Amino acid sequence: MHVVRDLKKIQDIGFASRLDRKKLALVPTMGFFHQGHLSLMRWAKENADRVVVSVFVNPAQFGPGEDLDQYPRDHERDMELAKSLGIDYFFMPEADDLYPQGFDSWVELPGFSKKLCGISRPIHFKGVTTIVCKLLNLTMPHTAVFGLKDRQQFLIIQKMVNDLNMPVIIEGRPTIREHDGLAMSSRNAYLNPAQRESAPIIYNGLLMIRHEVLSGRTNCRQLEDQLKNYYLENITGSDIDYVSIVNSANLESSSRAGHGDFMAVSVRLGRARLIDNIDLYQAMEDCAE
Ligand code: PAF
Repeated sequence: MHVVRDLKKIQDIGFASRLDRKKLALVPTMGFFHQGHLSLMRWAKENADRVVVSVFVNPAQFGPGEDLDQYPRDHERDMELAKSLGIDYFFMPEADDLYPQGFDSWVELPGFSKKLCGISRPIHFKGVTTIVCKLLNLTMPHTAVFGLKDRQQFLIIQKMVNDLNMPVIIEGRPTIREHDGLAMSSRNAYLNPAQRESAPIIYNGLLMIRHEVLSGRTNCRQLEDQLKNYYLENITGSDIDYVSIVNSANLESSSRAGHGDFMAVSVRLGRARLIDNIDLYQAMEDCAE
């Protein structure tokens, strides 16, 4: 595995793959790998000739007072894990190279970015779309792979790529869960034992709502209230950021749950802000590890 820090060098690698007609997949990450990241890398290995994994804790997607400084990091372990999966290039750029003095070009999708997580994190998605656009320009991949736990992020990136005619396929992969249903996330490391014990209730609630929908109860406001109450009653010390049924085509709130709708939630448990989502009609895609 080659460790690359230099922007020009990674761009040469991307360019060479295009010239050689080799399929290159990019797995963009912020590091501190868990099984969710590894599943994206495995998929990339199986579906491309060459794989670049990028590790960059992007300061532009953290707002003031958020967890940029505390965000868990373990580059040595990440490198070992990526190497064990046969990743070809481990790209670790420096913040000063990506955002040099005078950097002033941003990619923003104001419609999609102001909903759900964007309500409490107003600059977050502008930072995400800008860095993802830069990583796509730097690596020129045929495919870029993202986890569907961050469903809003996935839909925003897919829209950016369509709107800007970017020559890349955006692949979304199912959420990987702990044995008790908690969606894997680097931020789970912030949970204390009591919080960790109650965190699976987030997913149990989503399953409950899907069961309601499949049983014919489709009034979205009532379903959202039911889930909020379930969390308030069952997760001590939780603070609900949002509970929302939206359509995957436009992230607009639905009034009656229908095909294409998913339920998205964000719940703060101590220092951790945990997000999760579930398709309300589709067959179960999520798998437990
Ligand atoms: O999902 C993440 O880890 C990040 O938002 C991403 C896509 C790597 C951009 O920094």
